[in-house]
Amino acid sequence: MLSWTDQSLKVIPYKLIEGMIVAAYAIGANFGYIYCRAEYPLAISRLTHCIHECEKYGLLGDNILNSKFNFRLKIKKGAGAFVCGEETALIASIEGKRGMPKPRPPFPAVSGLWGKPTVINNVETLSNITSIISKGAEWFASVGTEKSKGTKVFALSGKIVNTGLVEIPMGITLEEVVFNIGGGIPFNKKFKAVQIGGPSGGCLPMSVIKTQVDYESLKDVGAMMGSGGFVVMDEDTCMVDIARFFLNFIQSESCGKCVPCREGTKRMLEIIERVPVAYKEGIDKYDQLQRFKGIIGLKRLADVIRDTSLCGLGQSAPNPVLSGLQYFKDEYEEHLFDRRCRSGVCKELLTFTIDTTLCSGCGLCKRKCGTEAIIGQKGEAHYVLQDKCIKCGMCLETCRFCAINVN
Ligand SMILES: Cc1cc2nc3c(=O)[nH]c(=O)nc-3n(C[C@H](O)[C@H](O)[C@H](O)COP(=O)(O)O)c2cc1C
Ligand code: SF4
Ligand code: SF4
Ligand code: SF4
Repeated sequence: MLSWTDQSLKVIPYKLIEGMIVAAYAIGANFGYIYCRAEYPLAISRLTHCIHECEKYGLLGDNILNSKFNFRLKIKKGAGAFVCGEETALIASIEGKRGMPKPRPPFPAVSGLWGKPTVINNVETLSNITSIISKGAEWFASVGTEKSKGTKVFALSGKIVNTGLVEIPMGITLEEVVFNIGGGIPFNKKFKAVQIGGPSGGCLPMSVIKTQVDYESLKDVGAMMGSGGFVVMDEDTCMVDIARFFLNFIQSESCGKCVPCREGTKRMLEIIERVPVAYKEGIDKYDQLQRFKGIIGLKRLADVIRDTSLCGLGQSAPNPVLSGLQYFKDEYEEHLFDRRCRSGVCKELLTFTIDTTLCSGCGLCKRKCGTEAIIGQKGEAHYVLQDKCIKCGMCLETCRFCAINVN
Protein backbone atom coordinates (compact mmCIF):
# COMPACT_ATOMS: atom_id res chain seq x y z
CA MET A 1 0.00 0.00 0.00
CA LEU A 2 2.82 2.39 0.85
CA SER A 3 4.95 3.49 -2.06
CA TRP A 4 8.67 4.08 -2.07
CA THR A 5 10.06 7.13 -3.78
CA ASP A 6 13.62 6.08 -3.05
CA GLN A 7 14.39 2.53 -4.14
CA SER A 8 17.60 2.57 -2.14
CA LEU A 9 15.61 2.59 1.09
CA LYS A 10 16.32 -0.76 2.67
CA VAL A 11 15.63 -0.14 6.33
CA ILE A 12 11.96 0.36 7.01
CA PRO A 13 11.03 2.35 10.11
CA TYR A 14 7.27 1.62 9.85
CA LYS A 15 7.46 -0.79 12.79
CA LEU A 16 8.66 2.09 14.93
CA ILE A 17 6.01 4.51 13.64
CA GLU A 18 3.22 1.95 14.09
CA GLY A 19 4.50 1.10 17.59
CA MET A 20 4.47 4.78 18.51
CA ILE A 21 0.91 5.20 17.19
CA VAL A 22 -0.27 2.22 19.28
CA ALA A 23 1.59 3.46 22.38
CA ALA A 24 0.13 6.94 21.93
CA TYR A 25 -3.38 5.51 21.54
CA ALA A 26 -2.89 3.45 24.73
CA ILE A 27 -1.93 6.46 26.86
CA GLY A 28 -4.03 9.10 25.05
CA ALA A 29 -1.11 11.11 23.66
CA ASN A 30 -1.53 13.24 20.53
CA PHE A 31 2.08 14.10 19.92
CA GLY A 32 5.27 12.04 19.61
CA TYR A 33 8.94 12.82 19.05
CA ILE A 34 11.66 10.68 17.53
CA TYR A 35 14.94 11.98 18.95
CA CYS A 36 17.78 11.36 16.52
CA ARG A 37 21.28 12.77 16.29
CA ALA A 38 21.68 15.31 13.48
CA GLU A 39 24.81 13.38 12.45
CA TYR A 40 22.59 10.57 11.14
CA PRO A 41 21.17 12.17 7.96
CA LEU A 42 20.31 8.82 6.36
CA ALA A 43 18.15 7.78 9.32
CA ILE A 44 16.53 11.21 9.35
CA SER A 45 15.73 11.15 5.61
CA ARG A 46 14.23 7.64 5.85
CA LEU A 47 12.14 8.56 8.88
CA THR A 48 10.97 11.80 7.24
CA HIS A 49 9.96 9.93 4.10
CA CYS A 50 7.99 7.32 6.06
CA ILE A 51 6.26 9.89 8.27
CA HIS A 52 5.12 11.77 5.12
CA GLU A 53 3.85 8.53 3.58
CA CYS A 54 1.84 7.75 6.72
CA GLU A 55 0.39 11.27 6.70
CA LYS A 56 -0.53 10.86 3.02
CA TYR A 57 -2.46 7.65 3.72
CA GLY A 58 -4.19 9.02 6.83
CA LEU A 59 -2.24 6.88 9.28
CA LEU A 60 -0.84 9.93 11.03
CA GLY A 61 -2.59 13.25 11.61
CA ASP A 62 -6.19 14.05 12.57
CA ASN A 63 -8.94 11.44 12.88
CA ILE A 64 -6.69 8.48 11.95
CA LEU A 65 -8.73 5.95 9.91
CA ASN A 66 -11.94 7.64 11.18
CA SER A 67 -11.09 6.65 14.75
CA LYS A 68 -11.37 10.24 16.07
CA PHE A 69 -7.81 9.70 17.34
CA ASN A 70 -5.26 12.37 16.42
CA PHE A 71 -1.52 11.72 16.47
CA ARG A 72 1.38 13.61 14.95
CA LEU A 73 5.03 12.65 14.82
CA LYS A 74 8.02 14.95 14.69
CA ILE A 75 11.73 14.25 14.40
CA LYS A 76 13.88 16.15 16.87
CA LYS A 77 17.46 16.41 15.70
CA GLY A 78 19.90 16.26 18.62
CA ALA A 79 23.30 17.94 18.61
CA GLY A 80 25.04 14.69 19.56
CA ALA A 81 25.62 15.00 23.31
CA PHE A 82 25.86 11.53 24.89
CA VAL A 83 24.06 12.75 28.02
CA CYS A 84 21.00 13.70 25.93
CA GLY A 85 20.21 9.97 25.80
CA GLU A 86 19.33 10.24 29.51
CA GLU A 87 15.60 10.74 29.61
CA THR A 88 15.32 13.97 31.62
CA ALA A 89 18.18 15.54 29.63
CA LEU A 90 16.47 14.45 26.41
CA ILE A 91 13.25 16.17 27.51
CA ALA A 92 15.18 19.36 28.34
CA SER A 93 16.81 19.21 24.90
CA ILE A 94 13.43 18.93 23.11
CA GLU A 95 12.16 21.86 25.18
CA GLY A 96 15.05 23.92 23.80
CA LYS A 97 17.00 23.95 27.07
CA ARG A 98 20.51 22.73 27.77
CA GLY A 99 20.53 18.92 27.91
CA MET A 100 21.14 18.34 31.62
CA PRO A 101 19.62 15.53 33.70
CA LYS A 102 17.24 16.32 36.58
CA PRO A 103 16.70 14.33 39.78
CA ARG A 104 13.81 11.87 39.64
CA PRO A 105 11.09 11.82 40.98
CA PRO A 106 9.12 13.29 39.39
CA PHE A 107 9.52 10.64 36.69
CA PRO A 108 8.63 11.58 33.10
CA ALA A 109 5.53 9.37 33.29
CA VAL A 110 4.21 11.84 35.89
CA SER A 111 5.77 15.10 34.70
CA GLY A 112 7.76 14.98 31.49
CA LEU A 113 7.83 17.01 28.27
CA TRP A 114 6.31 20.47 28.84
CA GLY A 115 5.33 19.19 32.33
CA LYS A 116 2.96 16.59 30.84
CA PRO A 117 3.01 12.81 31.50
CA THR A 118 5.45 11.36 28.98
CA VAL A 119 6.50 7.90 27.91
CA ILE A 120 10.13 7.56 26.78
CA ASN A 121 11.39 4.38 25.21
CA ASN A 122 14.14 3.08 23.04
CA VAL A 123 13.11 2.74 19.38
CA GLU A 124 13.79 -1.00 19.65
CA THR A 125 11.23 -1.35 22.45
CA LEU A 126 8.59 0.61 20.51
CA SER A 127 9.28 -1.41 17.36
CA ASN A 128 8.39 -4.62 19.23
CA ILE A 129 4.87 -3.46 20.09
CA THR A 130 3.01 -4.43 16.92
CA SER A 131 4.60 -7.90 16.74
CA ILE A 132 3.61 -8.54 20.36
CA ILE A 133 0.04 -7.38 19.70
CA SER A 134 -0.35 -9.38 16.49
CA LYS A 135 1.42 -12.56 17.65
CA GLY A 136 0.75 -12.41 21.37
CA ALA A 137 2.77 -11.94 24.55
CA GLU A 138 3.40 -15.69 24.85
CA TRP A 139 5.02 -15.76 21.43
CA PHE A 140 7.33 -12.91 22.45
CA ALA A 141 8.10 -14.45 25.85
CA SER A 142 8.92 -17.80 24.26
CA VAL A 143 12.21 -16.28 23.09
CA GLY A 144 14.83 -15.35 25.68
CA THR A 145 15.57 -16.24 29.29
CA GLU A 146 13.53 -16.37 32.47
CA LYS A 147 13.87 -12.63 33.13
CA SER A 148 15.11 -11.18 29.80
CA LYS A 149 12.54 -11.82 27.10
CA GLY A 150 12.62 -11.40 23.36
CA THR A 151 15.52 -10.34 21.15
CA LYS A 152 18.18 -7.65 21.20
CA VAL A 153 19.83 -5.79 18.36
CA PHE A 154 23.61 -5.36 18.59
CA ALA A 155 25.97 -3.31 16.48
CA LEU A 156 28.94 -5.66 15.95
CA SER A 157 32.11 -3.70 15.36
CA GLY A 158 35.84 -3.71 15.97
CA LYS A 159 38.07 -6.71 15.27
CA ILE A 160 35.40 -9.06 14.01
CA VAL A 161 34.82 -10.59 10.57
CA ASN A 162 31.11 -9.78 10.19
CA THR A 163 30.40 -6.22 11.28
CA GLY A 164 26.93 -4.67 11.24
CA LEU A 165 23.59 -4.87 13.01
CA VAL A 166 22.41 -8.28 14.22
CA GLU A 167 19.26 -9.27 16.09
CA ILE A 168 19.89 -12.12 18.51
CA PRO A 169 17.62 -14.04 20.89
CA MET A 170 18.34 -13.11 24.52
CA GLY A 171 20.25 -15.85 26.32
CA ILE A 172 22.72 -16.97 23.67
CA THR A 173 26.34 -16.69 24.76
CA LEU A 174 28.89 -14.01 23.96
CA GLU A 175 30.89 -16.80 22.35
CA GLU A 176 28.11 -17.52 19.87
CA VAL A 177 27.82 -13.85 18.96
CA VAL A 178 31.58 -13.39 18.49
CA PHE A 179 32.52 -16.66 16.80
CA ASN A 180 29.35 -17.88 15.06
CA ILE A 181 27.37 -14.79 14.11
CA GLY A 182 30.37 -12.46 14.00
CA GLY A 183 32.58 -15.02 12.22
CA GLY A 184 35.46 -14.68 14.73
CA ILE A 185 38.53 -12.49 14.66
CA PRO A 186 40.12 -11.53 11.33
CA PHE A 187 43.69 -12.45 10.30
CA ASN A 188 43.87 -15.40 12.74
CA LYS A 189 44.43 -13.04 15.64
CA LYS A 190 43.44 -14.03 19.17
CA PHE A 191 40.28 -12.72 20.85
CA LYS A 192 41.11 -10.45 23.77
CA ALA A 193 37.90 -8.77 24.94
CA VAL A 194 34.47 -7.58 24.01
CA GLN A 195 33.17 -4.24 25.17
CA ILE A 196 29.44 -4.42 25.55
CA GLY A 197 27.01 -1.65 26.52
CA GLY A 198 28.41 1.45 24.86
CA PRO A 199 31.20 3.79 26.03
CA SER A 200 30.51 3.09 29.69
CA GLY A 201 30.17 -0.66 29.27
CA GLY A 202 32.58 -3.25 30.61
CA CYS A 203 35.37 -5.09 28.77
CA LEU A 204 34.90 -8.84 29.11
CA PRO A 205 37.73 -11.35 28.51
CA MET A 206 37.87 -14.92 27.17
CA SER A 207 37.35 -16.36 30.66
CA VAL A 208 33.71 -15.14 30.65
CA ILE A 209 32.99 -15.70 26.95
CA LYS A 210 30.36 -18.29 27.85
CA THR A 211 28.27 -15.63 29.63
CA GLN A 212 24.70 -15.42 28.40
CA VAL A 213 23.62 -12.22 26.74
CA ASP A 214 20.84 -11.10 29.07
CA TYR A 215 20.42 -8.17 31.46
CA GLU A 216 21.22 -10.09 34.65
CA SER A 217 24.17 -12.18 33.43
CA LEU A 218 25.93 -9.21 31.84
CA LYS A 219 25.54 -7.20 35.04
CA ASP A 220 26.98 -10.08 37.06
CA VAL A 221 30.22 -10.02 35.04
CA GLY A 222 30.58 -6.21 35.16
CA ALA A 223 29.04 -5.14 31.83
CA MET A 224 25.58 -4.01 30.75
CA MET A 225 23.24 -4.32 27.80
CA GLY A 226 23.03 -0.57 27.10
CA SER A 227 21.78 0.34 23.66
CA GLY A 228 23.55 -2.51 21.88
CA GLY A 229 27.21 -1.58 21.40
CA PHE A 230 29.36 -4.70 20.85
CA VAL A 231 33.01 -3.85 20.18
CA VAL A 232 35.39 -6.79 19.76
CA MET A 233 39.11 -6.41 20.54
CA ASP A 234 41.97 -8.66 19.49
CA GLU A 235 45.43 -9.35 20.93
CA ASP A 236 46.77 -6.08 19.47
CA THR A 237 44.52 -4.02 21.75
CA CYS A 238 46.03 -2.51 24.89
CA MET A 239 43.52 -2.57 27.75
CA VAL A 240 45.10 0.42 29.49
CA ASP A 241 44.78 2.40 26.28
CA ILE A 242 41.14 1.29 25.89
CA ALA A 243 40.27 2.38 29.43
CA ARG A 244 41.97 5.73 28.75
CA PHE A 245 40.06 6.15 25.46
CA PHE A 246 36.60 5.49 26.91
CA LEU A 247 37.24 7.43 30.11
CA ASN A 248 38.39 10.38 28.05
CA PHE A 249 35.14 10.24 26.07
CA ILE A 250 32.97 9.92 29.17
CA GLN A 251 34.63 12.72 31.12
CA SER A 252 34.33 15.07 28.16
CA GLU A 253 30.63 14.17 27.83
CA SER A 254 29.88 14.76 31.53
CA CYS A 255 27.39 17.63 31.67
CA GLY A 256 29.16 18.98 34.76
CA LYS A 257 26.09 19.28 36.95
CA CYS A 258 27.30 17.12 39.82
CA VAL A 259 30.73 17.02 41.43
CA PRO A 260 31.44 13.25 41.62
CA CYS A 261 30.98 12.84 37.87
CA ARG A 262 32.48 16.16 36.76
CA GLU A 263 35.59 16.03 38.97
CA GLY A 264 35.81 12.30 39.66
CA THR A 265 35.98 11.18 36.01
CA LYS A 266 38.73 13.76 35.38
CA ARG A 267 40.77 12.47 38.32
CA MET A 268 40.30 8.89 37.13
CA LEU A 269 41.54 9.86 33.69
CA GLU A 270 44.60 11.56 35.17
CA ILE A 271 45.50 8.39 37.08
CA ILE A 272 45.05 6.19 33.99
CA GLU A 273 47.06 8.60 31.84
CA ARG A 274 49.99 8.37 34.27
CA VAL A 275 50.27 4.60 33.86
CA PRO A 276 52.34 4.47 30.66
CA VAL A 277 54.32 7.74 31.00
CA ALA A 278 57.78 7.62 29.49
CA TYR A 279 60.56 6.36 31.73
CA LYS A 280 62.61 9.28 32.91
CA GLU A 281 65.59 9.58 35.21
CA GLY A 282 64.27 10.02 38.72
CA ILE A 283 61.23 7.80 38.38
CA ASP A 284 62.28 5.10 40.78
CA LYS A 285 60.65 2.04 42.26
CA TYR A 286 59.01 4.19 44.96
CA ASP A 287 57.31 6.37 42.33
CA GLN A 288 56.18 3.30 40.46
CA LEU A 289 54.73 1.93 43.68
CA GLN A 290 52.94 5.21 44.32
CA ARG A 291 51.43 5.01 40.85
CA PHE A 292 50.37 1.46 41.49
CA LYS A 293 48.68 2.56 44.70
CA GLY A 294 46.96 5.21 42.59
CA ILE A 295 45.62 2.49 40.33
CA ILE A 296 44.34 0.56 43.32
CA GLY A 297 42.87 3.82 44.64
CA LEU A 298 40.90 4.02 41.43
CA LYS A 299 38.55 1.39 42.79
CA ARG A 300 37.56 3.59 45.73
CA LEU A 301 37.13 6.63 43.52
CA ALA A 302 35.10 4.56 41.05
CA ASP A 303 32.79 3.36 43.83
CA VAL A 304 32.14 6.92 45.00
CA ILE A 305 31.42 8.14 41.44
CA ARG A 306 29.08 5.22 40.80
CA ASP A 307 27.19 5.61 44.10
CA THR A 308 26.83 9.39 44.24
CA SER A 309 26.37 10.61 40.65
CA LEU A 310 22.99 11.97 39.67
CA CYS A 311 22.41 10.16 36.38
CA GLY A 312 23.32 6.99 34.52
CA LEU A 313 26.27 8.63 32.78
CA GLY A 314 28.18 9.15 36.02
CA GLN A 315 26.84 5.98 37.62
CA SER A 316 28.26 3.84 34.81
CA ALA A 317 31.35 5.98 34.00
CA PRO A 318 33.80 3.83 36.03
CA ASN A 319 32.81 0.60 34.23
CA PRO A 320 35.62 0.49 31.62
CA VAL A 321 38.24 1.01 34.34
CA LEU A 322 36.66 -1.35 36.86
CA SER A 323 36.31 -4.17 34.35
CA GLY A 324 39.89 -3.48 33.19
CA LEU A 325 41.19 -3.81 36.75
CA GLN A 326 39.08 -6.91 37.34
CA TYR A 327 40.12 -8.80 34.22
CA PHE A 328 43.33 -7.22 32.93
CA LYS A 329 45.22 -6.19 36.10
CA ASP A 330 48.35 -7.99 34.83
CA GLU A 331 48.51 -5.56 31.89
CA TYR A 332 48.36 -2.57 34.25
CA GLU A 333 51.17 -4.10 36.34
CA GLU A 334 53.28 -4.75 33.23
CA HIS A 335 52.94 -1.12 32.18
CA LEU A 336 53.96 0.10 35.62
CA PHE A 337 56.68 -2.28 36.72
CA ASP A 338 58.09 -3.80 33.53
CA ARG A 339 57.62 -0.62 31.45
CA ARG A 340 56.10 -2.86 28.81
CA CYS A 341 52.97 -2.64 26.67
CA ARG A 342 52.51 -6.15 25.30
CA SER A 343 50.37 -4.86 22.42
CA GLY A 344 52.86 -2.19 21.43
CA VAL A 345 50.16 0.48 21.58
CA CYS A 346 51.52 2.74 24.34
CA LYS A 347 54.21 4.52 22.37
CA GLU A 348 55.69 6.00 25.55
CA LEU A 349 56.90 2.51 26.47
CA LEU A 350 58.46 1.60 23.13
CA THR A 351 62.21 1.68 22.46
CA PHE A 352 63.47 2.18 18.90
CA THR A 353 66.96 0.81 18.20
CA ILE A 354 68.97 0.02 15.08
CA ASP A 355 70.34 -3.45 14.42
CA THR A 356 73.86 -2.54 13.36
CA THR A 357 74.33 -5.90 11.61
CA LEU A 358 71.47 -5.07 9.23
CA CYS A 359 72.00 -1.32 8.85
CA SER A 360 73.52 -0.39 5.47
CA GLY A 361 74.21 3.17 6.50
CA CYS A 362 71.96 4.57 3.76
CA GLY A 363 71.04 7.48 6.03
CA LEU A 364 67.37 7.58 5.01
CA CYS A 365 66.07 7.28 8.58
CA LYS A 366 68.43 10.02 9.73
CA ARG A 367 67.03 12.41 7.12
CA LYS A 368 63.41 11.53 8.00
CA CYS A 369 63.76 11.69 11.78
CA GLY A 370 62.21 15.00 12.85
CA THR A 371 64.09 15.24 16.14
CA GLU A 372 67.65 14.47 14.98
CA ALA A 373 67.59 11.37 17.17
CA ILE A 374 69.55 9.26 14.66
CA ILE A 375 73.28 9.63 14.21
CA GLY A 376 75.79 7.90 11.93
CA GLN A 377 78.12 8.40 8.96
CA LYS A 378 77.13 7.51 5.39
CA GLY A 379 77.94 3.87 4.71
CA GLU A 380 78.35 3.08 8.42
CA ALA A 381 75.96 1.72 11.05
CA HIS A 382 73.53 4.31 12.52
CA TYR A 383 72.32 4.68 16.14
CA VAL A 384 69.26 6.08 17.93
CA LEU A 385 69.78 8.65 20.69
CA GLN A 386 67.08 7.57 23.13
CA ASP A 387 66.77 10.93 24.91
CA LYS A 388 65.88 12.62 21.61
CA CYS A 389 63.55 9.92 20.26
CA ILE A 390 59.85 10.81 20.45
CA LYS A 391 58.72 7.32 19.27
CA CYS A 392 57.07 8.64 16.11
CA GLY A 393 57.87 5.44 14.19
CA MET A 394 59.04 7.28 11.05
CA CYS A 395 62.37 5.40 10.95
CA LEU A 396 60.54 2.07 11.08
CA GLU A 397 58.40 3.08 8.11
CA THR A 398 61.39 4.39 6.20
CA CYS A 399 64.06 1.72 6.57
CA ARG A 400 64.21 -0.66 3.60
CA PHE A 401 66.66 -3.01 5.34
CA CYS A 402 64.46 -4.04 8.30
CA ALA A 403 67.18 -2.68 10.57
CA ILE A 404 64.88 -0.83 13.00
CA ASN A 405 63.90 -2.81 16.10
CA VAL A 406 60.97 -1.86 18.30
CA ASN A 407 60.76 -3.29 21.82
C1 LIG B 1 24.12 8.75 29.42
C2 LIG B 1 22.95 7.98 28.86
C3 LIG B 1 22.82 7.81 27.50
C4 LIG B 1 21.75 7.11 26.97
N1 LIG B 1 21.66 6.98 25.62
C5 LIG B 1 20.60 6.30 25.11
C6 LIG B 1 20.48 6.15 23.69
O1 LIG B 1 21.33 6.60 22.92
N2 LIG B 1 19.40 5.49 23.22
C7 LIG B 1 18.45 4.97 24.07
O2 LIG B 1 17.47 4.40 23.59
N3 LIG B 1 18.54 5.08 25.40
C8 LIG B 1 19.59 5.73 25.94
N4 LIG B 1 19.69 5.84 27.30
C9 LIG B 1 18.66 5.22 28.15
C10 LIG B 1 17.41 6.10 28.17
O3 LIG B 1 17.60 7.17 29.04
C11 LIG B 1 16.17 5.33 28.62
O4 LIG B 1 16.43 4.74 29.85
C12 LIG B 1 15.79 4.27 27.64
O5 LIG B 1 15.68 4.78 26.35
C13 LIG B 1 14.46 3.65 28.10
O6 LIG B 1 13.94 2.88 27.09
P1 LIG B 1 13.71 1.31 27.21
O7 LIG B 1 13.11 1.06 28.58
O8 LIG B 1 12.76 1.05 26.12
O9 LIG B 1 15.03 0.68 27.02
C14 LIG B 1 20.78 6.55 27.84
C15 LIG B 1 20.90 6.72 29.22
C16 LIG B 1 21.98 7.42 29.73
C17 LIG B 1 22.08 7.59 31.22
S1 SF4 C 1 26.23 12.23 36.56
FE1 SF4 C 1 27.49 13.44 35.14
S2 SF4 C 1 26.24 13.64 33.29
FE2 SF4 C 1 24.88 12.99 34.97
S3 SF4 C 1 24.06 14.89 35.83
FE3 SF4 C 1 25.89 14.42 37.01
S4 SF4 C 1 27.51 15.54 35.93
FE4 SF4 C 1 25.80 15.45 34.53
S1 SF4 D 1 67.30 3.56 6.99
FE1 SF4 D 1 67.82 1.57 7.83
S2 SF4 D 1 69.64 0.96 6.72
FE2 SF4 D 1 69.39 3.14 6.35
S3 SF4 D 1 70.67 4.09 7.97
FE3 SF4 D 1 68.59 3.92 8.78
S4 SF4 D 1 68.61 1.97 9.87
FE4 SF4 D 1 70.40 1.95 8.57
S1 SF4 E 1 60.99 6.84 16.27
FE1 SF4 E 1 60.87 8.85 15.32
S2 SF4 E 1 61.97 10.17 16.73
FE2 SF4 E 1 62.57 8.07 17.25
S3 SF4 E 1 64.41 7.71 16.06
FE3 SF4 E 1 62.71 6.96 14.85
S4 SF4 E 1 62.18 8.67 13.52
FE4 SF4 E 1 63.45 9.51 15.18
